[in-house]
Amino acid sequence: MKTGSKKKGARTGTERAAPRLIALGGGKGGIGKTFLAANLSVALSRLGLEVVAVDADLEGSNLHTCLGVEPPPMSLADFVADREVDVGKLAAATSIPNLRLIAATHANLWSPQPSDEQRVALVGHLRKLPADIVLIDLGAGTHPAVMDYYLSADEGVVVFAPEPTSVENGYSFMRAAFYRGMHRWMSDEPLRDLIAQAMDQHNERGIRTPLDLLRAARALDPAGGRRLEKLVHRLRPRIILNEARSATDIKMGFAIKSVCLKYFGIEADYLGYVNHDDVVRKSVLARKPLVLSHPKSDAAIYVGRIARKLAAGSFRSKAVRPKARSNAPAPTHRKL
Ligand SMILES: Nc1ncnc2c1ncn2[C@@H]1O[C@H](COP(=O)(O)OP(=O)(O)OP(=O)(O)O)[C@@H](O)[C@H]1O
Ligand SMILES: [Mg+2]
Repeated sequence: MKTGSKKKGARTGTERAAPRLIALGGGKGGIGKTFLAANLSVALSRLGLEVVAVDADLEGSNLHTCLGVEPPPMSLADFVADREVDVGKLAAATSIPNLRLIAATHANLWSPQPSDEQRVALVGHLRKLPADIVLIDLGAGTHPAVMDYYLSADEGVVVFAPEPTSVENGYSFMRAAFYRGMHRWMSDEPLRDLIAQAMDQHNERGIRTPLDLLRAARALDPAGGRRLEKLVHRLRPRIILNEARSATDIKMGFAIKSVCLKYFGIEADYLGYVNHDDVVRKSVLARKPLVLSHPKSDAAIYVGRIARKLAAGSFRSKAVRPKARSNAPAPTHRKL
């Protein structure tokens, strides 16, 4: 995470600050991650920010469709296949001012995912893009590739739909981020071992929740346990509740925030909700972002409100800036 007094995205003379990397995930498929990534990208670009939208869902790419952009001739698939090493060249201009797209079309079905090294290199390239915000649309699930993009970003947005399946997968996603992040950022070997053991839900130490892990870490090594607790702030998620249909659905965002604190020991921010709206499907069918096709619809207005909150800056603690100990994936990755 970048720190310092300079506002992210602000330019000083010829020098330009690195863009804010915002990853948008949520565990479950079909809950509106791509719809939100596309429309938030457009809304942010209309606020005057230079935005690069990145489709990191190499096995189910459709960010270009939600943005109403023809599949660009070059995409992340060319980076994965080593045909193009300069990620900047993959950022194609769109018809929307201030918005460029790194698409993920034309994947090599034999080997669609980048290697660990390519993932690290890709994030490094994204940080150098001349933009204010790089918004990364993640695929569903808790695959190591998905989690690594999420953990490498400056800010993580987790999308929930008000259904038990989505809530369950959303918590799995945050748990996976918690253990994987702690293992990646913690440098003390005994604590790394403890975290690796805790990743097995049936571990013999009886560690069942992230808070159990923090307690066990403190008991094993009080100073290391305190360091681990500080690292947890790095994970501070920002929650969006999509497809809300009732006041109860809307309140679910606050309930998720409370659960984050109770079970993960993490403060979360509720960015807001977007209501279920039939015009969303119409906009997808028309291949036009909702905020452009139906700007006066409630859903577009709520997306705009969330975009303004995102533009206002990061809520994540700037006091903690852990260094990645290793970019290699954790040894055991399970669905937690
Ligand atoms: N707020 C909403 N109101 C109505 N329909 C919605 C809303 N958000 C999303 N949808 C519908 O849900 C569909 C799936 O959304 P989307 O493709 O963005 O999900 P996803 O989470 O990215 O899925 P995947 O994990 O498969 O990539 C959209 O095509 C749209 O029709
Ligand atoms: Mg998607």
